[in-house]
Parts: sequence; C-alpha cells; structure tokens
Amino acid sequence: MSVKYYDEQKIFKLDSKDTSYVIKIFEGGYPLHLYYGSFIPDVNLTSFEKRHVYASFSAWPEGYEPYTFTPDTYPMEIGCNGGPDMRIASVQIRNADGNAVVDFRYDSHKIYKGKPALPGLPSLHANCDDECETLELCLKDSVTGAICTLIYTVFEKHSAMTRSMVIENASSKSFEIERAMSLCLDMNSMDYDLITLYGRHMQERDLERRPLAHGTQGIGSRRGSSSAAQNPFMALISRGGGEDNGEAYGFNLVYSSNYKGEIEVDYNESARVIMGINYDDFGWTLAPGERFYTPEAVLVYSDEGLGKMSRTFHRLYNDNLIRGEWKNKKRPLLVNNWEGTGMDFDGDKLFVIAKWAKETGIEMFVMDDGWFGKRDDDTSSLGDWQVNEEKLKGGIGSLVSRVKALGLKFGIWYEPEMISPDSNLYRAHPDWAIHVPGRKGSIGRHQYIIDMTRKDVRDYLFGEMSKVLGNNDIDYLKWDFNRNMTEAGSALLPAEKQKEFYHRYILGTYELMDRITSTYPHLLMENCSGGGGRYDPGMMYYSPQIWCSDNTDALSRVDIQFGSSLCYPASVQGAHVSASRRASYETKRNVAMWGSFGYELDPEKISEEARNEIKAQIADYHRHYDLIHYGDLYRIISPWDDPYRCAWEFVDENKSKALLTVLIKFRKESRNFFIRLKGLNADKNYRLEETGEIYSGALLMNAGLSLFDMPNADGYSKTFYFEEV
Ligand code: DGJ
Repeated sequence: MSVKYYDEQKIFKLDSKDTSYVIKIFEGGYPLHLYYGSFIPDVNLTSFEKRHVYASFSAWPEGYEPYTFTPDTYPMEIGCNGGPDMRIASVQIRNADGNAVVDFRYDSHKIYKGKPALPGLPSLHANCDDECETLELCLKDSVTGAICTLIYTVFEKHSAMTRSMVIENASSKSFEIERAMSLCLDMNSMDYDLITLYGRHMQERDLERRPLAHGTQGIGSRRGSSSAAQNPFMALISRGGGEDNGEAYGFNLVYSSNYKGEIEVDYNESARVIMGINYDDFGWTLAPGERFYTPEAVLVYSDEGLGKMSRTFHRLYNDNLIRGEWKNKKRPLLVNNWEGTGMDFDGDKLFVIAKWAKETGIEMFVMDDGWFGKRDDDTSSLGDWQVNEEKLKGGIGSLVSRVKALGLKFGIWYEPEMISPDSNLYRAHPDWAIHVPGRKGSIGRHQYIIDMTRKDVRDYLFGEMSKVLGNNDIDYLKWDFNRNMTEAGSALLPAEKQKEFYHRYILGTYELMDRITSTYPHLLMENCSGGGGRYDPGMMYYSPQIWCSDNTDALSRVDIQFGSSLCYPASVQGAHVSASRRASYETKRNVAMWGSFGYELDPEKISEEARNEIKAQIADYHRHYDLIHYGDLYRIISPWDDPYRCAWEFVDENKSKALLTVLIKFRKESRNFFIRLKGLNADKNYRLEETGEIYSGALLMNAGLSLFDMPNADGYSKTFYFEEV
C-alpha cells in the first residue's frame, strides 16, 4: 500500500517508488508536514515533529499552552492567511465579513486506489487503478464554512506525486478565494539552490541556478500563458549537488496561464515552496454549494541529482500525462512549409514541397499560417477560418486529396484564440476580442485575443474548425498562440467576476481543445506559442508534442533542448531541421533528432547535395525513434557547464543500446577529450557500430570513449551508436 494511515499517531505516510512523504495531524487538527525525501521505514515518524516555537513574536493559537506550538514555525501542509503563520500563504479567502482570515483544521480523510480527474483541468492519470493511490485530506474552517480538500496521489512506479486542492463553500454566504495554491511544501532546511528555466522567444528554457536566500524568491507569469519568460518549473537541489549527485526536488504545474512559484526562507532557515495560479489580479467568487478546483502540481524527488529527476519526469509524463491515440504511437516525420515559404504560397507551391517530401521519405506535410481569409502577412484575417481560394484553388479538399494521393498525411495550422482587427469576424463581433470598457486594446503582432471565456465564441471556433477538420482527411493540427494578454476582460462577465477572467480564459481554451481532440481522436495536436511559449504539462495533456522553439539554429537551439529536458521528455519536443540557419545538415539533424523530428524548408531553395543528404539521414531517425522517444536521457556535457561543446546520450530500458551525440559548438584549441558515458551496464560489452570496436560498459563509463581524433571545428557533431554484444 502506498498511502497508510496510523490512527494512534495521526500520521499519513505516502510512499512512491523510492520516496516517502509524511503528514501528521497535530493537536487541534493542524495538518503538519513532517518529511519529504528518500524512502524511510515506518518507525518513530513523529520523532522530528518538534520545532523552535519562540521566534520573532510568533503568536500561538487560543487554547495552547504558551510557547508550546505555533503554526508560524511548524511545517504545515497548508499556509493559512491571517492567523499566526506569518510565512507566505498558500490559501486566502475573503469572507462575507470582509476579512481574509482562514484557519483550516483536519476534519476527515479518504484513501483510495487510482487518481481522480480534475473537472475542466488537465491532469495526470492512472492507466489502471493499481498504479496510483490517492489521499484526500478534508480540512474545514469553522468560521467561513469553507472546506478545503487537499488531494495527493502517489505513483508506485515513479518517485513522483501530484497535489491539488478543492475549495467548497459549505456556508450560506458567498466568499471570494483570493489565493489557492496547488502546492505548499515546507522544507526542513534552506540548504538548496533554486533552479529555474527562464527565457524569451527564440531562447526558451535557459537554466538559471541561485542559492536560496532569506526572503521570497521565485518565478511566475502575468502574460495570460505559462510563457517563455519563466517556465512553470522549479527545482531545489542540495548545495553542491549536480547532474548525478545530491538531492533534487522538481516542481511542475499542470497549467497554461498566469501562475506563480515562490519560495520563502524564514528566520528558522526553513523554506516554504508554493506553486499555483498567480494570485495577482485573481479572485474567484464561490457561491454557497460551489466548488473551486486548482490545477495540480507535480512533485518529483531524486536522490541522484538532476539527471535522475529528469528521467523520472520523462517516464512519468510519457506514461501518465500523454494520452489518446498518439500516446505510444510513432509520430509521423513531417515537413512544415513555414520557414521555407512564410505566407507566400499557393496550392501548387505546397504540392511541390509535398512531392519532394514523399520522394525523400517524409511522412506528413503540414501547411502553416496563411491559408485562410486574405492573409498574406500577419496584419489580417485571424478569426476568418475560411480557406483563401485564390491561394488554394478548389479549397482545402483539393490540396488534401492531392497530398493524400501521394501517400502522405496532412496537417494544418490554426491560431484559434486570436482575432485580427482587420478581419470579417472582428468587424461583425468587436466585443469578441478581449477588452475592458473605455480603453483601446493594445495590439501584439497586429492581433487581439479572442474571448475564450465565452461559449458563443468557442462554439463559433468549433463550428468553423469542424467544417475543415470534419470534412477533410486531416491528421494533424498545429495550435498556435502568438501574443501576451493585455486589457484582460470580458464583455459578458459582471464587474465582480472580472478577476476570474484569466482562469476562465484558460478553462475555455482547455474546453475547446478537449472538444476538438475528443471529436477528432485521431488528430495529432502540436501546441505552439511563438515557438515554446506554452511548453507546459497543461498543454501536453492535449498535445502530445509541442513546438519547442522558433529557433532552429542547431548551435543555439541545443541549449533550449537541454533546458527543456530538465523536466519534459524528448517525445513531446517538436524539433525541425531548417535551411536558413548555421551548421551542416548533419548537425542540424543530430540536434533535431532529439525530439519529434521534422523538416521546415523549401526544397527548391536548397542545393541538390543538401536534398540528397536529407534523404540519406532519414533512415537513422526511424532506427533510433524508440530509443530517443522512450529511452533514458543522460546529459553528459551540458551547455550550462561548458560553453564550447555538449553531449547527450539515450539508453534503452534494458541497457542494451545507447546513442551518444557530441557537438562542438565553438572550436577551442585541441585537447584530450574523453567522454564518459552513463547509464550502461558495467558488466556488459558494447560494440560501437561505426568501427566495430568492442568496449566494456565499465570502460565506457569509467575511462570513457577517447575522442582525440574528432574534428575540432565549429558546429561539428557526431553520433555514436552502441549495441550490446
Ligand atoms: C509562430 C510559430 O512559432 C511558427 O512556427 C509559425 O507557425 C508562425 N507562428 C506562423 O505565424
């Protein structure tokens, strides 16, 4: 059993693969957090519950002996606003009396097999009930009548768990939720470094590491999307810990809108981690009888540094986040016309690309932006999802049939959440653009955002998209989103509910994505947001792959792929070879093969030699598909450790195959160069395909592979494939 309750000690113990998480219900019903880390046996678990209680004027609750207990210094499962706990709050409710004091105490609990879905929200799932066990901890506030249920699910196969929260109004008056963080975790020390993934368009998910300091630090988004600026991922790693050593805790939020992840270190050198919907500019009115569900946070623990943490995330997401027909199905190798043609195309031009794709061994043609309305550049037509027959003579159907007759799959681009001021849709429904009264909306990429909180808007989009998706044999949909959200308000929401806008918006987007994917279950969705601006597990729930970045320059994109790999698996990473960037086709392919691979070019603009090279390189992609998509990733040399060269390796589950890629980003004078592989079986022997040489796993991992003769040139890369003999 992975969730146990010891009634006498009022202890809950949640064990996943190699970890334990311990909760104690303290006198008076306070839910204390005792421990999270490597597995511990069920012996004397309360031995470390005591904490300093005298600290900076800490108050104790009524009924307690002076200086015996205070929620200010004890580790809590929930940080209640307005009471003695002065640390960063994880829940704040403004009640009908106008104050925001809340005090949640234990009421009851439920333990059951399996994992519940969260209504309207993406979440991880159990493939069968035996995979997971769930604890629901029901807490009550006696004054507001609020009931707060903390939901914990542990995964038996992975060192991972999820946590979310439901707030219910069991009183006779409405109250307003001002803060409802999915995660609240009190760490017993501050001896950690915080790792986050910051970035921007074309440079997403760059790793940043800083020691925890007293006070508050963290990440967040106010852009209406999870955004490229800060990915909703944080890790704490013990000081001195690294890729293969130290304790690493990873936190990831299954959510695609404004979020916050914060850590406050207090004067007792303890760190409180919270993560959830961004409480800035957020409020949710809960009428009597209503419930509010938070998104869920994913927690992964590793006792062997960041590498093991990442591999746990990868397996967990492949097994328990990605769903539907494409879950374990081989994704088609695609060509997308965006970097090749932009919006300057017609049906014949696209057909030329498709024909080349077929001859080359590519499996799917994707038509990107510019096929609808009168869209020849980015100043118009978003929302007019009717085909431009001047470009595509005979409509979409004609192009789809021609492409299908070649034996290729067909994919199409949409940006459903946007509306151009210059569009028939906007002229007919100006109030469908999100806006606030009396202010002109700011424009981003010449476009407004459409109001996804509105059902009529979602019905329109579903109807228009269905005319295309339902009447044509379309296999793939690229769902784009290309601006920050400003003047965020809806014409339909009453004034007191405008604070609900951002969350209602993303619930609306999720609802439309759900409708599309359940109506067209065979459709492979690839999410995109100016590259990887919504590269989050919320989107991965609907889209088993996400366009990682518009940066297709292999030499800098590789950094983005390293950063993304901290928590996201290769299988979700859309990665393409394009013509317009630095590096050889060999290197572009070696980098793009680390993901859901494709091309993004106009074959008529590249040399015959390049076309022949592309044809030859595709075979390797097929050969190594399973190893890359479902194998274990080992970061051998990371860009954050070495600016000149990097290396990564995939090893299959049986440790019988390994693919190592080494890339020289910038030439440095020649020197000895040994690559020590990881994750092999020390007792097995492996044959290097290229030379036929046999190496022991122990030699490869301890002495290393000598690369003294590897060409030392900017942008040179090479793959090394090993198989057990
Ligand atoms: C941004 C995406 O990242 C690109 O791949 C492309 O689809 C453009 N949008 C089209 O406008």
